Amino acid sequence: MQTIEQISILRSEIKLWRQQGLKIAFVPTMGNLHQGHIALVEKAMLLADKVVASIFVNPMQFGINEDIDNYPRTMAADQEKLVAAGCDILFTPTPAIIYPKGLENQSYVEVPNVSHSYCGESRPGHFRGVTTVVCKLFNLVQPDIACFGLKDYQQVQVIQTMVDDLSMPIEIVPVATVREPSGLALSSRNNYLSIEEKKIAPALSQNIQWLAKEIQHNNDFIGLAKKAAGYIDNAGMKTDYIHICHARTLQPASEDDKELVILAAAHCGKARLIDNLQVQLT
Ligand code: PAF
Repeated sequence: MQTIEQISILRSEIKLWRQQGLKIAFVPTMGNLHQGHIALVEKAMLLADKVVASIFVNPMQFGINEDIDNYPRTMAADQEKLVAAGCDILFTPTPAIIYPKGLENQSYVEVPNVSHSYCGESRPGHFRGVTTVVCKLFNLVQPDIACFGLKDYQQVQVIQTMVDDLSMPIEIVPVATVREPSGLALSSRNNYLSIEEKKIAPALSQNIQWLAKEIQHNNDFIGLAKKAAGYIDNAGMKTDYIHICHARTLQPASEDDKELVILAAAHCGKARLIDNLQVQLT
């Protein structure tokens, strides 16, 4: 695996692959890789001839009260995992390479509607930062496909909307969430959990599953979501939101909708955890 920091070197490698007609898959990450990220690389390997991963802790997607400096950085371990998974190129630009004029002078990409609720409401500007950096990385890597984890369900919908709206010739491949045996979704944020909090945190996925069963025979979506929030709080977490939504538009689900997703976020100690579950009503 080649680790490349400079855009010019990345572009010339990609050009060589393109000249050979190879199919390129891309896995953008912020590093601190776990099995969830490796599942993305494995999927990318199955679907393409060459795989590029990136590690870039993107300052534009962090809020002013979010501690980017303490975001876990584990480059050497990440590189080992990517080599073992078979990744071909790891792109590791610095903030000065991605945002040479500074964040204030950077053009941005913003997706309306689907960006502005749920995590978009709790973290203003977050999805603008995500779409701006992903657009920029897409332009640098020029992949045929890009793999994203469904743990960040709203992010996948935001990126799919950007790709559709801006006619980007890239197939977005959503990849299933990898979980611990307790049901807790793998996330870099789980590193912030104490031993005690780690025992509490599975309450998020457990109550999403409870809700998924209830909505099969009860369409009081708002009342049931409120109940689930209460259960999550009683387990020792603090619910940020839990909503039953249309799976693609993410609008609050109506009685007639059949393809749904339950989106939830909750604070557990210092960690803000998110999780979701797609539900098909019969
Ligand atoms: O999901 C992430 O790790 C990030 O939001 C992404 C897509 C790499 C953009 O910085």
